[in-house]
Amino acid sequence: MICYGEIGCRTIDAANSRIAAKHGAGLAALIGCVNATKNKGFFSFDLPPIPGQTNGMMMMNAELSGELPKTYRGLDQLKVLSVRHWTKRTFSFTCERPASLRFRSGEFAMIGLPNGEKPLLRAYSIASPNWADDLEFYSIKVADGPLTSRLQNLQVGDEILIRPKPVGTLVHDALIAGKRLVLFSTGTGIAPFASIIRDPETYDKFERVVLTHTCRDIDELDYGKHLLAEIEGDELLSDVVGERLTLISTTTRQDSAQMGRMTDWLRDDRFAAATSGPLSAEHDRVMICGSMAMLQDHKAICEGLGMAEGSNSAPGAFVIEKAFVD
Ligand code: A2P
Repeated sequence: MICYGEIGCRTIDAANSRIAAKHGAGLAALIGCVNATKNKGFFSFDLPPIPGQTNGMMMMNAELSGELPKTYRGLDQLKVLSVRHWTKRTFSFTCERPASLRFRSGEFAMIGLPNGEKPLLRAYSIASPNWADDLEFYSIKVADGPLTSRLQNLQVGDEILIRPKPVGTLVHDALIAGKRLVLFSTGTGIAPFASIIRDPETYDKFERVVLTHTCRDIDELDYGKHLLAEIEGDELLSDVVGERLTLISTTTRQDSAQMGRMTDWLRDDRFAAATSGPLSAEHDRVMICGSMAMLQDHKAICEGLGMAEGSNSAPGAFVIEKAFVD
């Protein structure tokens, strides 16, 4: 944990300015928040406005009023800032974040593209943490998919549409307290967890975090491995995360050092051996994101251990969300 005294500043404002200059205002405020909680609240916390960002919502409403069909009302238009193609089946992109857009790490938003009378929108998990200045998304490419066949051609400077009301169950609020947070993902189901593992609140709530990522082929594991390298390379985040985050990456169709579905790893002793022990209802809290079949199989394992499914209104020991985009 960062201590303000350690970075040579006499006031919190000075420390935040120094952190913000290096890492962006969001992370500085968030770490300030976590520290404030720990120090019994010396100062109050609110997400700061994001420097240099336009209020996309106002811009969009002004531009669209009276010109486009009703179906476009309330949508934000966001400029794409970067695009990275990870494999022939996956890519990620970042876009600007409207100052008004707040979300909890792990939530999803409806995003998409104009499409005649009705915009083409799909639910996408926000892969960036809630303190980040940009929004990041990680997507599958489906050759004949109505949205991803077009999204995969995004270029820097293009614009996407977003309904700026993120929601979701893969959030801390839907889980009861526990010691270890276990995040099970397959394919692009890793996206919400890319947000959660970069959120300092996660490490405030849990002693240890395990992220599992299972894909068909080795190159599809790159996104998750890159996330860990990014955390390790970030002075502030690595200080918060320390040695408490473990990534288990497995393949199912291409030979690799670690193979098999995580459901099989849980049924034999491979999950326990690779982490700090077997999945337990007493200590573990679980989030699951992947295909419908994957969700059902993981859910059955959790319920078999006596865990109850949680929601925003009734927190429990595990939560699930499907990662389906076409
Ligand atoms: P498998 O290759 O054995 O089907 P997909 O790309 O089809 O979404 O699959 C992503 C990964 O999820 C693959 O490694 C796949 O394994 C795995 N997977 C598919 N179904 C399940 C399931 N029911 N439980 C656990 N893992 C699954």
